Amino acid sequence: MTASLTGGLSANPLRQGLRLERTPKPAILTIFGASGDLTVRKLIPALYDLARDRRLPPEFTVVGYARRPYSHEEFREMMKEGVAKYSRSKLGNLWESFSKGIYYFQGDLDNLQNFKDLGEFLQTLDSERGTLGNRAFYMATAPSFFAPIIENLGGAGLAGDVRNTRLVIEKPFGHDLESAQNLNKVVQQVFHEKQVYRIDHYLGKETVQNILVFRFANSIWEPLWNNRYVDHVQITVAETVGVENRGPYYDEAGGALRDMIQNHLVQLLALTAMEPPSAFEADTVRDEKVKVLRATQVGQGPNGLAAVRAQYANGWISGEPVHAYRDEPRVNPDVQTASYIAAKFMINNWRWKGVPFLLRTGKRLAKRVTEIALQFREVPHLLFPSSSAGQLSPNMLVLRIQPDEGISLRFEAKRPVADIAMRSVNMDFHYGGTFEVASPEAYERLLLDFLLGDQTLFTRADEVEAAWKIVTPLIERWEIQKAGDLNYYDAGSWGPSAASKLMDNGRRWRRL
Ligand code: BG6
Repeated sequence: MTASLTGGLSANPLRQGLRLERTPKPAILTIFGASGDLTVRKLIPALYDLARDRRLPPEFTVVGYARRPYSHEEFREMMKEGVAKYSRSKLGNLWESFSKGIYYFQGDLDNLQNFKDLGEFLQTLDSERGTLGNRAFYMATAPSFFAPIIENLGGAGLAGDVRNTRLVIEKPFGHDLESAQNLNKVVQQVFHEKQVYRIDHYLGKETVQNILVFRFANSIWEPLWNNRYVDHVQITVAETVGVENRGPYYDEAGGALRDMIQNHLVQLLALTAMEPPSAFEADTVRDEKVKVLRATQVGQGPNGLAAVRAQYANGWISGEPVHAYRDEPRVNPDVQTASYIAAKFMINNWRWKGVPFLLRTGKRLAKRVTEIALQFREVPHLLFPSSSAGQLSPNMLVLRIQPDEGISLRFEAKRPVADIAMRSVNMDFHYGGTFEVASPEAYERLLLDFLLGDQTLFTRADEVEAAWKIVTPLIERWEIQKAGDLNYYDAGSWGPSAASKLMDNGRRWRRL
């Protein structure tokens, strides 16, 4: 008999739209890099919340794998603190039974014998906990270990097959197109693509998934969703936090281009711009995303590529003084790392030809906000005298991803006065006020999905490569040619004034 995590990986017929009604089969989740931040802050708290919502079977087991010498009990204590601090449900009685399913395994990531020993340990756990040989391996390590872990899983005979074994890969997936292609080759030598789950945690956010529902479960938007009606699209991911303690990673990654644009913002662009898939299934959705990404390229500005990069200088956030990037702990003060990028992308297809997609993201900006705004074209002919129209604003549809999740539509209305006078007003939908349940965290959704065997919200090999291709001209300009066009902006501001140069035809960045 073959054990199976889901009872089949082909389509997902039991999944109705975006609802999840199933519980995964018993399995062991091994987390490589388990002593790191991600495990204690995100993964274990999310698993605990899933268990509390009865989404996990009682046999579900976690093995933390790392180099340091912890006992099972010590590891559980560390995880307990994480749950107390970061889970949605906070620590409760469930911890006792949940923590009995957490184990620790000490090993090196590049030592094949350790992986063979892990295999034996997993077999022992199978018989103790009834996990039926079902395995998921989660790579939460520094990216340089991804390839050795995969090779060692293969070497130790742990790659299993599509029915019983899954591999989850954290971001960043590669450093550029070539390294992503090489990593895909390593992955595909050991695992079948149907076993592989590449994470972009933005895809786990409720409001990001809602982009698809909003577009494809309503009939009124689709006729407007094209270059006939849309003037341009602005995608903003603004953060107030700085680089925090992650300086070395962030410097090495080269800043916001790799950390945010290549993955999170490009994913938001793909979901906004893709054609309607024929079904809500992993490959049909991902086929459409790949198609639109292949049609996307950085736009041209007067001086070459239409993109601006910058780094934050000293400034103020919420009334507190904050350091410049170069004075943050563990960053290299001489490095030209950009904490802000704004770039214009164009999509060369029938639907979007001529519509700029303007993406911007930065740390230490004035406000934490992620949104997608579609600005519609101006009315073709204004029949009201311009004196009464005053500052007529084009219609704007805003999908607010976080915080204050919701959707708003801006239109013009007549002011209640004797003359014809008008003003822009908003029709607003707020998640918080409409649905009374708190949204699950992105990691809850993603962990559950890969345990269920649903790849829809994970990036496929060709998709991740297409996303790298889009940003390659920027990597070449800023890193290979070392173009010295780094701007600076005050922390707590809306970024460098140079970003406005990307806007032509009277367009302006939204003030949020
Ligand atoms: C991560 C980046 O992927 O996303 C971080 O590495 C960034 O630099 C974070 O802060 C933002 O995620 P969220 O969910 O807080 O918007």
